[in-house]
Amino acid sequence: MSKLNRVHRCQACGAAHARWAGRCATCGEWNTVEEEVVAGSPARPGPGPRGPGGFGPGEDAVPVPLAEVDITSHEPLPTGISELDRVLAGGLLPGSATLLGGEPGTGKSTLLLQTLASMARAGRRCLLVAAEEAAPQVRRRASRLGADVPGVFVVEATQVADVEQAVASVRPDVLVVDSVQAVSDAEVVSPAGSLAQVRACANRLVAMAKGAGAALVLVGHVTKEGALAGPRTLEHLVDTVLSFEGDRYVSLRALRALKHRFGPTGETGLFDMTEAGLSPIVDPSSLFLGDRLEGEPGSVVTVAVEGYRPLLVEVQALVGRQSQLPRRSVTGLDAGRVGFLVAVLERHCGVVVGDRDVYVSVAGGARACEPAADLAVCLALASSLSSTPLRSGVVAVGEVGLGGEVRRVSGMQKRLAEASRLGFRDALVPGAGREETLSFPDRHLRLLPAPAPAPAPTPAPQSREFRVWALREALSVAFAGAAPIKALQRERGDLLSPRTANLRGPPIS
Ligand code: TYD
Ligand code: MG
Repeated sequence: MSKLNRVHRCQACGAAHARWAGRCATCGEWNTVEEEVVAGSPARPGPGPRGPGGFGPGEDAVPVPLAEVDITSHEPLPTGISELDRVLAGGLLPGSATLLGGEPGTGKSTLLLQTLASMARAGRRCLLVAAEEAAPQVRRRASRLGADVPGVFVVEATQVADVEQAVASVRPDVLVVDSVQAVSDAEVVSPAGSLAQVRACANRLVAMAKGAGAALVLVGHVTKEGALAGPRTLEHLVDTVLSFEGDRYVSLRALRALKHRFGPTGETGLFDMTEAGLSPIVDPSSLFLGDRLEGEPGSVVTVAVEGYRPLLVEVQALVGRQSQLPRRSVTGLDAGRVGFLVAVLERHCGVVVGDRDVYVSVAGGARACEPAADLAVCLALASSLSSTPLRSGVVAVGEVGLGGEVRRVSGMQKRLAEASRLGFRDALVPGAGREETLSFPDRHLRLLPAPAPAPAPTPAPQSREFRVWALREALSVAFAGAAPIKALQRERGDLLSPRTANLRGPPIS
């Protein structure tokens, strides 16, 4: 037997220590340092930093001019699942390794089964390593999903050596290991599922896939804290890290690329979990606004950006009764940010919701965690408090600052084009635009026509942008001077300090 190496490793961050310690000096976690015993095996090739097609040890590393590097063999294989291809910037690259992380029950196994079926239909050889489920169970699920396609092979295996054998016999183009935590390496003495096992198995599988030219997808379960078990330490072993997210009680699922060596990160794929598996959501804006009740107080539409896509979502607020211990419930938004906006509304607009129960959410399980949703949140709160619906056909986009100012956000043109596509004619947007500098003018409201239409997509000709500099102005415009809002503002007018009152110009009447 080969020589045994002993190392003390933190199970949270993977840092190696010379001796045992109660607390990891690298990440600060307590009771995470454990002894690992690993059989010395210096000859095994590691994945190395070069990506698929990299050189193995002992091969000649001959420099070639960059422009002459062969890229034709590095074309991604489309998965045929549109939202997955969007996130992967084309598909899975042969010889590459992808880690798909997510909490149990989000639908990772379902997504990959559908992916394998789709790729098999396109003539790819696919191998699914079922390390958690029995093959008949996989078969039953595949039948329900219409994914029992010739060309998809399945093997029950929990030992890496067995996976290697299966790969040698099937010689797949695509290899899925579900999950990496459930396989183990007999050469590693630590128990299955431990950090040492997960790392060793991932290392070996990545190297094998690279050698075999197969696109490898590893499923990784995420712990409650949101870290991939074998935390962080797997991410540098693979080329791509995908995260599959979704609430168990909502059918919406979002796929995000956290790391991608072959394309941009930040793109998001959206799926609907149905009886018949995951179906890509082609027009998410229509979906999110589908059940909206027009003219309902507390409802405001904003345009979020998911990945690179503008997305119309409905922010809903419900301001309840006054209480000594007001309840706060926030879904789909940053709760801290909502608290901040409640304070700004009170301080700068005299809209006091702080002593009441407040519920704010984004409808349909969507998320709008970016500051661009601030304006919509403030308007929704004021709308609910005053039981006054917003004027119809308006979207609100803008960040709100501590000074009660409405600030610019990125991608405004793209957002407005999407709003226009869905029939919204008016937009409440930050005052400072291309031809303006960010300053508080002495006039408290300016109504400007929309800029010259961009070549494509063209906003509807009658669309207007209401440019507002201060949240106070936004309240006036959004409710078209409705009496309850004016009353709210007047009632709490004393809250404005002379300095802020001055900045805002004369009070709105
Ligand atoms: P699964 O793919 O097993 O999740 P993971 O591998 O991430 O743990 O999906 C499990 C959930 O998805 C389960 O709660 C049932 C639901 N589901 C559907 O709603 N429709 C379907 O067609 C399938 C296969 C699963
Ligand atoms: Mg699963």
